[in-house]
Amino acid sequence: MADYVLAIDQGTTSSRAIIFNHSGQIVESGQLEHEQIFPKAGWVEHDALEIWKNVREVVALALTRANLTHRDIAAVGITNQRETAVVWDKNTGEPVYNAIVWQDTRTQKIVEELGGDEGAEKYKAKVGLPLATYFSGPKVKWILDNVEGARAKAEAGDLLFGNTDTWVLWNMTGGKDGGVHITDVTNASRTMLMDLSTLDWDAEIAADMGIPTSMLPEIRSSSEVYGKGREGGMVPGVPISGILGDQQAATFGQACFEVGMAKNTYGTGNFMLINTGTEQIPSENGLLTTVCYKIGDQPAVYALEGSIAVTGSLVQWLRDNLGIISSAPEVEDLAKSVDDNGGAYFVPAFSGLFAPYWRADARGALVGLTRYVNKGHIARAVLEATAFQTREVLDAMNADSGVDLTELKVDGGMIANETLMQFQADILGVPVVRPQVAETTALGAAYAAGIAVGFWSGEQDVIDNWAEDKRWEPSMDSGDRERLYRNWKKAVTKTFDWVD
Ligand code: G3P
Repeated sequence: MADYVLAIDQGTTSSRAIIFNHSGQIVESGQLEHEQIFPKAGWVEHDALEIWKNVREVVALALTRANLTHRDIAAVGITNQRETAVVWDKNTGEPVYNAIVWQDTRTQKIVEELGGDEGAEKYKAKVGLPLATYFSGPKVKWILDNVEGARAKAEAGDLLFGNTDTWVLWNMTGGKDGGVHITDVTNASRTMLMDLSTLDWDAEIAADMGIPTSMLPEIRSSSEVYGKGREGGMVPGVPISGILGDQQAATFGQACFEVGMAKNTYGTGNFMLINTGTEQIPSENGLLTTVCYKIGDQPAVYALEGSIAVTGSLVQWLRDNLGIISSAPEVEDLAKSVDDNGGAYFVPAFSGLFAPYWRADARGALVGLTRYVNKGHIARAVLEATAFQTREVLDAMNADSGVDLTELKVDGGMIANETLMQFQADILGVPVVRPQVAETTALGAAYAAGIAVGFWSGEQDVIDNWAEDKRWEPSMDSGDRERLYRNWKKAVTKTFDWVD
């Protein structure tokens, strides 16, 4: 068997290809950012063709840098930004509209109308999710309602829908010349269209949203052979055998296989998942019930998730929209130029507020300002916003599960920021633990793909390969911790009711 597994991570801001060896170590990688398109306030789009072009380029880049060819690759795993909706014509391979990104809030009216008198909880018992702009189903409805000719084409069976996992897989396996139209249970669980118990599309909800089921991909497990790279493509004949939404992939890569194990990923947004085993736990505290993973024929494992829309992207906003820093890592130096936040709190409700509030009417607020506050304090408030939002989610998790988490495994880009990690441990009051391989999202997808073809034997290999790199212990006085957190909660209330 070939010696390596390739993971494609199609994320919100970039696409990456990472080659892993049998020990789960990174051998080489390639990465390309794609354009973030903001046509109106609250709208966020991606060009799906640009994404596909970038995926091809990063795979070629990683293979070339590693001096390998597709013959060295035993399997390919795909992981992806979840919920982002692509609708394309299966005869031409052309998207009918830009991909509508998970952060986009244009479907607010649609979700209110769908909820009717029953409100946001209408489908929650079936799909585990509140009606919110975040999920794919209402985005597909928006495209069918607003793109000329789309509904007629969809009803004629000419259009396909997918999150970006499905879009990449369809193209990799042949596109309009026989590409497979498949997703996995984790991605399907983010559409609002899948019944969490049957793991199948719910015809009634699809009908409510006016989405023909012929557009929907076949739902498969997260670890099985879906197809092979097309002849003439970047990995001809190589099995594509793992798909996990990026947050579930990180949970898998962090070896959270036991009930009660949790991880928190610091990316564009933050996403904390706790494994709840084969049981679906309905949340009473603003969390989502979602599929964590399903390995081949084994039963599905579920999770509770706390999704935060804006964390790392607030640092990007500081760089791109305000120009206070010229690169994202500079935020740490700026934050370290002061001792504390100087009384400033920044609630980045740019996409409304996700967990635990689910308020589409919220908009960002920077409060507590005086003449004393300088850009160092604002940088600090930006970092602290990530930690406070994480505390809110952790509190919700403890309340839902009835058990207090004793430590938190972390991963993602922002965990390189030591100031943030220490503050995170301080605000949570529990240790924060970083693994040696921080790219756990890509790693999780690689494991799912490798397990399906026998490259790895199963979860035990993942556990054996996981190793701790560093841990931050809480050192803040509990009085200070609770005072800061109370102020944060007050700041959050200032963000409500901003949409007419
Ligand atoms: O639910 C959205 C999430 O999957 C996006 O993750 O890492 O691309 O910001 P990321």
